[in-house]
Amino acid sequence: MGMKDEVHGRSQPGQAEPKVKNKEVVALEDAEAQEEMETNKKRHLNVVFIGHVDAGKSTTGGQILFLSGQVDDRTIQKYEKEAKDKSRESWYMAYIMDTNEEERVKGKTVEVGRAHFETETTRFTILDAPGHKSYVPNMISGASQADIGVLVISARKGEFETGYERGGQTREHVQLAKTLGVAKLLVVVNKMDDPTVNWSKERYDEIESKMTPFLKSSGYNVKKDVQFLPISGLLGSNMKTRVDKSICSWWNGPCLFEALDCIEVPLRDPKGPFRMPIIDKFKDMGTVVMGKVESGSVCEGDSLLVMPNKAQVKVVAVCCDESKVRCAGPGENLRVRLSGIEEEDILSGFVLSSIVKPIPAVTEFTAQLQILELLENAIFTAGYKAVLHVHSVVEECEIVELLQQIDPKTRKPMKKKVLFVKNGAVVVCRVQVNNSICVEKFSDFPQLGRFTLRTEGKTIAVGKVTDLPVA
Ligand code: GTP
Ligand code: MG
Repeated sequence: MGMKDEVHGRSQPGQAEPKVKNKEVVALEDAEAQEEMETNKKRHLNVVFIGHVDAGKSTTGGQILFLSGQVDDRTIQKYEKEAKDKSRESWYMAYIMDTNEEERVKGKTVEVGRAHFETETTRFTILDAPGHKSYVPNMISGASQADIGVLVISARKGEFETGYERGGQTREHVQLAKTLGVAKLLVVVNKMDDPTVNWSKERYDEIESKMTPFLKSSGYNVKKDVQFLPISGLLGSNMKTRVDKSICSWWNGPCLFEALDCIEVPLRDPKGPFRMPIIDKFKDMGTVVMGKVESGSVCEGDSLLVMPNKAQVKVVAVCCDESKVRCAGPGENLRVRLSGIEEEDILSGFVLSSIVKPIPAVTEFTAQLQILELLENAIFTAGYKAVLHVHSVVEECEIVELLQQIDPKTRKPMKKKVLFVKNGAVVVCRVQVNNSICVEKFSDFPQLGRFTLRTEGKTIAVGKVTDLPVA
C-alpha cells in the first residue's frame, strides 16, 4: 500500500503500486458533463497539509471543506455517529479526509487525501499528508505536488514538544517540504481550544519563538515566506472568519482563509517544455495518468513522449479537478487519458514530456547534498546506498564518488580531498541508479531537480542535481 520505503523494481512494471492514491475517485464520464467549467479563471494553488502525527491535519482539512460548503450537516452527523461507534468521537471532522476504513479505525491518515475548495480569489487542491513516520514516503509524494504548505502544529501540552523533538515529524516534514519545493508555509498553531491551552498567548508565542530559528535553518525566509496563525481545526475557530475577541482577545491577524487567499502564486511558465511526472495510472477507456504539470501546457490532441521509455502517445482527454478541459497549464493537477500506450508500460516516476525537448533520462548525475542525520555509526562515503526520492520517482541509488566538500559558511568548495563526511556536511558527489530515471538540473527546473535520500525509513540527506551527463 505504499506505506514503507519500498523501491519499486523497474523490471516488473505491473507490480508497481501507486504511492498517492486518488481518494477523491471521480469518474471521467461525470467530468465530461462539466466541460463548461473551463471558463473558471480563478488562480489555482496546491496546498499540502504537513506536520507531526495527530497534529490535526485531517481535522483542519475536513473543517475547511465543511466551512466552504463542500460537506453538508447530514454527512457530518453520519461521521459523528461512525466516529462514536469506533470510540473515536473527536475524529469525525478528520473522517471527511480519512476515507479508508483502516484510517478511520486507527485515526491515522495513510494515503494522501485529496480535495478541492474555493475562496473568493483562488481554487485550492488540498493534499492531506499522513504524519506518522511509517508513511513519510507518502508525505513526500504529497509535498512534491504542492506549491505551498500548511504546517499544522498541536499546541496541546506535550504534543508540540514530541513533534518538535529530534525524530519528530515536525522537523522532518519541514526539511522535506523545503527540498521538495514547497516555497511558502502557513504555520497553523492548532488545538488552541484544548483545555491545556485555552487560547493562551504565552503558549502561542513559545511555539512561534521555538519554530522560527528552526524554519530559518531549514532554508525558509521567515519574514517573506512564513506566516503563523492560531486556529482550532476541530471547532473551526479563526478559519473562515476571524476568531471572536471574546475567545481570543490578543489575535489581530488574519484567519486561515484570508491568509490562504493572500498567498502569492509562484511564477510559472506556460510556454516552457511540457513536463508532468506521473504519480499514478489506471485503466479507464484507455490509459489514464495522474500528476501535476511542472512546466508547459497540455492540450487535447497533443503528441507527447512518456519518458524514460520514449513511448510516443496522444492526448485523448485532459481532466482538471472534476472537470474536463481542453488545455491545462503549469501547477494543475491533472488526469490525462492517453492512447498509444498500455497501462502496464507506465510506472509512477515516469514523466509525460514534450517531444521536441524531452526530459533527460539518466542513470547517473552529479548532485550537491546536505547530510542531515546518518544512522548511528554510519559514515557517508563512496559506496553508500540509499533510496532516492525525486518528484514521483522512488529508486535505489549508490553514491559512487565524493567530488568535493563545500564549506557551509562560505558556500565555497574546500581544497582538501574528501573521502567521507559526517552529519551536517555539504558535499558534491556522483549518484548512480540502476534504472534510467528522469531528472533535470535544479537550476533549470527546481521541482524536477531536488531530491531526498532515505535509509531504513529515515531521511538522511536532501540534495539538488547540479549536473547531468551530456547526452
Ligand atoms: P495523522 O493523519 O495521523 O498524521 O493525524 P492528523 O494530523 O490528520 O490528525 P487528526 O486530524 O486525525 O486529529 C488527531 C486528533 O486531534 C483527533 O482526536 C482530533 O479530534 C484532535 N484535534 C484535531 N484538531 C483539534 C483541535 O483544533 N482541537 C482539539 N481539541 N482537538 C483537535
Ligand atoms: Mg490525518
